[in-house]
Amino acid sequence: MTIAILGAGAVGQLIAHQLASTSERADWPMLLGRDAKALTAEFCFTPLSTQTVAEVQRRRFAEAKLNTVDLIIVTVKAYQVEDALLPLLPMLNADCHILLLHNGLGPHEAIAPKLAGRGLSLGTTSQGALRVGSQGALRNSPTELKQTGTGLTQFGHFSGPALSESLKQRLLQAIPGSEWVDDILTALWQKLAVNACINPLTARDRVENGALDSPQYQSTIDAVIDELLAIAAKEGIRLDRAALKARVMTVIKLTAANRSSMRQDVEHGRKTEIDAINGYLVRLGERHGIDTPANRALFDAIKAIEAAA
Ligand code: PAF
Repeated sequence: MTIAILGAGAVGQLIAHQLASTSERADWPMLLGRDAKALTAEFCFTPLSTQTVAEVQRRRFAEAKLNTVDLIIVTVKAYQVEDALLPLLPMLNADCHILLLHNGLGPHEAIAPKLAGRGLSLGTTSQGALRVGSQGALRNSPTELKQTGTGLTQFGHFSGPALSESLKQRLLQAIPGSEWVDDILTALWQKLAVNACINPLTARDRVENGALDSPQYQSTIDAVIDELLAIAAKEGIRLDRAALKARVMTVIKLTAANRSSMRQDVEHGRKTEIDAINGYLVRLGERHGIDTPANRALFDAIKAIEAAA
């Protein structure tokens, strides 16, 4: 059972660590950079429970032999999925299963028809991790990863052959707080609502997530959710308004001290995931003839920040 992780950012490294911690060395996953070269450099991992360097664990990952991979977990950003994954497909076995794990929605629609019969699963995670130390220098030198939060991880089947039961169990045993759900699209739409509210507002106003609990943000949050609900209904996704608002507000409170991923992206002058979050809603709104002024305003605001960077 060989697992590869495509994308050596914080989430990719965290999952690599979790899989490595729960298996024999021979079964450790491959960690692949976006150019699909195996990363052989060691990295340090600081678990959530400790801040001390003494307890840092070191892991070494194998060289890539892509034709031996049974499951490839794609942890690059939504806007990188196609460019990172499509060139690898000819090197993968015909029965290699693909699992996409990123914020936002959209890439699965482009990817699914190009998999030549391979199975596709989707997932979402609220686990938090931060790369510290030699940022981005994984290939040549050790880098450090610090887990910053626990949270729900959900996986589910999307198209083609299902993931084997043994690989499913391997994932669920390795990743704390993970579950396999029957209806992954509904779970991803719920997470989309969280990201569509929290990410652009915190990035635009450079505030911590907890600031969105104040009355000044409630009308925007309500409008973003109402637009999302109308579009989801057209897509055949049934969501409950009160439950969705409660979920968004719960995440705001639970992650009150966090800098959202989109705020971090704009503060570092990086491209954001806005296209796969509010941008996805704007595009679907156009397709269904539904106005999306609240999502469009946030989309435009983040695009303006990106353009000025
Ligand atoms: O993208 C993020 O930052 C996270 O998904 C979340 C849940 C909004 C918390 O910051």
